[in-house]
Amino acid sequence: MLWLPIDRNSSTPLIRQIYLELRQQILQGTLTAGQKLPATRALATQLGVSRNVVLEAYDQLIAEGYLESRAGSGTYVAQGATWSVLPSQPRSEPASEPDSADWIDFRSGIPDLERVPSKLWGQITKQVGAAAAAEVFGYGSPEGRLELRSTLAAYLQRTRGVICQPDQIIITSGAAQAFGLVAKLLAAPGDTVVLEDPTPPEIRHIFAAQGLTVQAVSVDERGLQTDKLSAIPEPRFVLVTPSHQFPLGSVLPIQRRIELLEFARTTGCTVVEDDYDSEFRYEGTPVSSLQGLDPERVIYIGTFSKILAPALRLGYLVLPPAYVAACRELKRLSDLHTSSLEQITLAQFIQAGHLERHIARMRKLYRQRRNVLRQSLLENFSDCVKILGDSTGLHLVADFKNIEFTAEVMQRIKQKYVKVYPVLNYAIDPNQHSQKVVLGYGNLSTDAIQTGIARLNQAIYSTASTIQ
Ligand SMILES: Cc1ncc(COP(=O)(O)O)c(C=O)c1O
Repeated sequence: MLWLPIDRNSSTPLIRQIYLELRQQILQGTLTAGQKLPATRALATQLGVSRNVVLEAYDQLIAEGYLESRAGSGTYVAQGATWSVLPSQPRSEPASEPDSADWIDFRSGIPDLERVPSKLWGQITKQVGAAAAAEVFGYGSPEGRLELRSTLAAYLQRTRGVICQPDQIIITSGAAQAFGLVAKLLAAPGDTVVLEDPTPPEIRHIFAAQGLTVQAVSVDERGLQTDKLSAIPEPRFVLVTPSHQFPLGSVLPIQRRIELLEFARTTGCTVVEDDYDSEFRYEGTPVSSLQGLDPERVIYIGTFSKILAPALRLGYLVLPPAYVAACRELKRLSDLHTSSLEQITLAQFIQAGHLERHIARMRKLYRQRRNVLRQSLLENFSDCVKILGDSTGLHLVADFKNIEFTAEVMQRIKQKYVKVYPVLNYAIDPNQHSQKVVLGYGNLSTDAIQTGIARLNQAIYSTASTIQ
């Protein structure tokens, strides 16, 4: 079998990766003159790519003289294509960090990128571009297109119980930009803000970079421990993920929601609700937004990164009316506005019902993956594992009995070509969560999930370091 590493996360197209790899192996003499290459169909199956991808790579190499096609016989390495001056690259045996399609990456927060409705999106984009009035191609308004904000207001009211008018919405470049705008809007350098512990370091860094002092309040299986808030004097805001805490996955119950809102009222601070993946709920009734309980006190942040694709960089803020003008100005100073054409495309995509159909389809698929992941964890680790936060979203947390995710254990897992994410990486207080890992399943097939968990088992319970 031909050893041909490809990297699906690379920005280099698969055809180009296969072409470059084969070309390199021929130049170096790893593939020798006269050697027969695998049939395109067989290689495509081995690599898990479409046959056209392999055909195109082969065609390019044939056109450049590296390969020759013999009618009725197959494809062979041509004579005279070895170039020994080329420095040889260490290869074949996978080293500790190979660029390989064998990796199974349980990274969280990535939707199934193969199932992004790209054809529909492309069709609408084309129509939008062709039909757009001249003004669309000029500078737009900082808050974003009215057609998207109106569509979004109705959608959020219907699906999340968010109470707002279109003029309370500002379209942003993903939730990431929304966090930065909120920090500038509500706080000045030196001010204190409250974040959940654990929380993604990227989000912490956004606030720290603006000179804010981050105070952590720990999260348990029922979300933010709101009874601990009173120990923090005068924070400017509290950032929460009440629908599905990131990363622990807890859902904030109504009692804590009320306690949080009461704390905000008493201290005069704002609650910032990050509702990043609430649409994928697998059991129990959907939990409405926190914003719906107190629209004057809560800033709501949403994103299309999980329900459509991170690459769109489309998110939004829903603000109490008093904050809209100042936030609009901050958005203008940041990047003038988010792409108008993308906004119109998204508005039409939602209006035609495509978004809700896509979410319904994906929810089914993700539920299946989540069930397979649950089952694989229980089969492999039985009562040594407790599953947390799996009712919603694109990830869950596995809490292992007696297993610490130390550097040594992580190295063993890496040697099995599996990537898992210790909750410790997100923890502000390093004395908790050392036995928990975050497992994202949105962008993994059920086969990959099963194989990944079996490898995790081998890595944890043995010292062998090869893939089985
Ligand atoms: C907790 C949380 N909220 C929101 C987001 C979404 O960010 P964006 O909309 O910028 O892609 C992320 C990114 O993964 C996240 O971890």
